[in-house]
Amino acid sequence: MSKSKIWSSNSIFILAAAGSAVGLGNIWKFPYMVGSNGGSAFVIVYLLFIFIIGLPVMASEILIGKYGRKSPVNSLKKISLDFQLNVRWKYLGVLGALAGVLILSYYSVFAGIAFSYIFNIFPLGLENPSEYSTNYFSSLAASPLRLIFWHSIFMLFTCAIVGYGVIKGIGRSVSFLMPIFFVFIILIAIYSSITGDMNSTLSFLFSPKFSALTPGVIISAMGQAFFSLSIGMGAIMAYGAYIPENQLIGKTVLSIILLDTFVALIAGIAIFPIVFGNSELVVNAGPSLIFETLPVAFYSLPFGSIFSILFFILLSIAALSSAISLLEPFTAWMEEKTKLKRKMVVSLLGILIWFIGLGSIFSFNIWSDLEFKGFNFLSGLDYLTNNIMLPLGGAFIAFLTGWFLPKEFIRKSLNINYFLFNIFFFCLRYISAGAIVLIFVYSVL
Ligand code: PHE
Repeated sequence: MSKSKIWSSNSIFILAAAGSAVGLGNIWKFPYMVGSNGGSAFVIVYLLFIFIIGLPVMASEILIGKYGRKSPVNSLKKISLDFQLNVRWKYLGVLGALAGVLILSYYSVFAGIAFSYIFNIFPLGLENPSEYSTNYFSSLAASPLRLIFWHSIFMLFTCAIVGYGVIKGIGRSVSFLMPIFFVFIILIAIYSSITGDMNSTLSFLFSPKFSALTPGVIISAMGQAFFSLSIGMGAIMAYGAYIPENQLIGKTVLSIILLDTFVALIAGIAIFPIVFGNSELVVNAGPSLIFETLPVAFYSLPFGSIFSILFFILLSIAALSSAISLLEPFTAWMEEKTKLKRKMVVSLLGILIWFIGLGSIFSFNIWSDLEFKGFNFLSGLDYLTNNIMLPLGGAFIAFLTGWFLPKEFIRKSLNINYFLFNIFFFCLRYISAGAIVLIFVYSVL
């Protein structure tokens, strides 16, 4: 493989993978999932899943991508052929590529909303900023045209970057934007915890309340762990194809996971003190939570509108660096399969995804009454992708590395000592694969 096809340094791979992992999942989704699922019970199970399921599955994905050096579908095909396994393992890559397309269709709608908030500057002298904020979100959600506009803009950006190619497009931009984002979100968390209700926040997030632990909460926590780490659909596998030959996978995975978890928890600490300190805002508001709360915090700040603009610019960029990794697996696969030019593949896919996204947009307004078994288009798609497709993909990845590929090959590829490896392998073989299947069967039944 030529030099130009490898990330230019080890830290660029970490930043790109962290760029994929850190996004709306941490800042937008994690807080509202915690809020809607009763707080600490969700947080504790989530953290557990991140380490016992997320870590082994992410390491497996990188290992397969690095071995194959191709799109997830073809890396899976290569590894199964080389080790005399059934070539149908490649369909795992197909499932993932599809999941990416489906997730991107609604991810882009929310990323578009985040983008539109760059231009949402509250008028001065409001008596009740929380009420203004809630009304603002409702009126945006009620307007299909405004949502379509922002969704289209976000899809255009995503397609432009992916069309330009992974190495040139992604590597460079993440290396300086991600660090700025981290610093910024930490500053907001500090500000919220000083001005808002920090005591209620800490007990809501961390004091164990196991009575709140229902099967529904466990499934959602697992789905969120997969979603937040970008695993189970090949995004990290696709990036793994470009990892430098000598980079240590174990250490790399640990850095990505810690970063991702840190940002999610910090986002919680930035949002909840505002919610608890403000009687107009409710903790279980659902997907609108951050869009209703954060502007209120910015409003009370000196030069708040500047902070607000900056924050939503950075959030949009974090969303963009995740969105490109949702599109990459399908694009890379089609590029290898059809001989079409990358830009052509991306344009066609982009139009398809944009179109599916309309369903999610209409779920807010003209289709809001359209329900099937309690799900509307958006919540159904969210459930299908996060709670079914990603865990299913993750389970198969864990089966492939834990049960089918030679153990010694895995150990050598990970390059860690025997002691750590044995713990890792035990988790991979019994806990990750087993837990996913158990929870999964339970949820489907
Ligand atoms: N992890 C991303 C986020 O938190 C979303 C994502 C999911 C990206 C799956 C790629 C694959 O925003």
